[in-house]
Amino acid sequence: MFTNFANVWTPLSLSRDLKPGRPLGLKIAGERVVLFRDAAGQPGALIDRCPHRGVALSLGKVVNGQIECPFHGWRFDRTGANCGVPWNPDAKRDQLGATALPLRETAGLLWLHTGVAPETEPEISESFSLPKMTLCAQSVVWNVHWTRVMENMLDMPHLPFVHRRTIGKALSRTVLGARMDITVEERPYGLRLSSAVDGVARPGVLDYRFPNMMELFIDPPGRRLRLMVASIPQEDASTRLLLLTLRDFARAPLLDPLFRWMNARIAAEDKAIVESSLPPDIPLSGGEVSVRTDAPTLAFRRLYRQRLLGGDARPIPET
Ligand code: FES
Ligand SMILES: [Fe+2]
Repeated sequence: MFTNFANVWTPLSLSRDLKPGRPLGLKIAGERVVLFRDAAGQPGALIDRCPHRGVALSLGKVVNGQIECPFHGWRFDRTGANCGVPWNPDAKRDQLGATALPLRETAGLLWLHTGVAPETEPEISESFSLPKMTLCAQSVVWNVHWTRVMENMLDMPHLPFVHRRTIGKALSRTVLGARMDITVEERPYGLRLSSAVDGVARPGVLDYRFPNMMELFIDPPGRRLRLMVASIPQEDASTRLLLLTLRDFARAPLLDPLFRWMNARIAAEDKAIVESSLPPDIPLSGGEVSVRTDAPTLAFRRLYRQRLLGGDARPIPET
């Protein structure tokens, strides 16, 4: 299950996007997953495959907080327990359950664990617990492997080229003789990245949170504005980007579309370029050359290889 993305926590969506009475089917790293809320509003996640004949439970409906399979009407609660087998009152229901996955509802988000027995809890950015922060989100899909998306989010030298009208505006693309220095600090949650150009520190610290989140700190004076992206694998060459904006100003929900538009515009600038990557997933040996300012990418590849591929891939060449 969850090939090369097993036993990690990933955010999936805003809590408020999982409505009572409505199943939500998602694809995560090649597996179908269905989310729904029980009668008390508690969320649950099951592998979206009925144990009877394998159909998608997400095509069924939620009845009294249980999901009812669309084919023969078997019902399951959020722990996967079988709660009813039509026409078979004598069925051994305790042997006819669905597979539940750990799910948490924290910081206004739903977090899924891609394994059945988590030893950790989701690693949540402190930004979520700052006072008066308001959160809005949206999803976009890119046709490329999630690792390419993740690396793009950690990459600073591309800013004045791809984002010259938005977050790269302040970095002039004409200064080809300039030197960028990137500092990569290891943190318990992943990496902290900062940069300097010709020895002058630049604003815009960036965090990588293992396995698939980045957070960009772009606080205007006296305010807090954080852009986050979760790179959620769907299939090998399909990734859903969950774009999150956290802010402590202009908090009216009416203004959410403005912040969503800003985040989506930045992501749209990258999309076609990252989707054109060959191969669509990152090569773990050979095939690409790297330079000093690729340090964040290479640090990510190291963690990816060690913690998600089990350290069994060949070493990554560094230049
Ligand atoms: S396939 Fe789900 S109840 Fe038969
Ligand atoms: Fe970008």
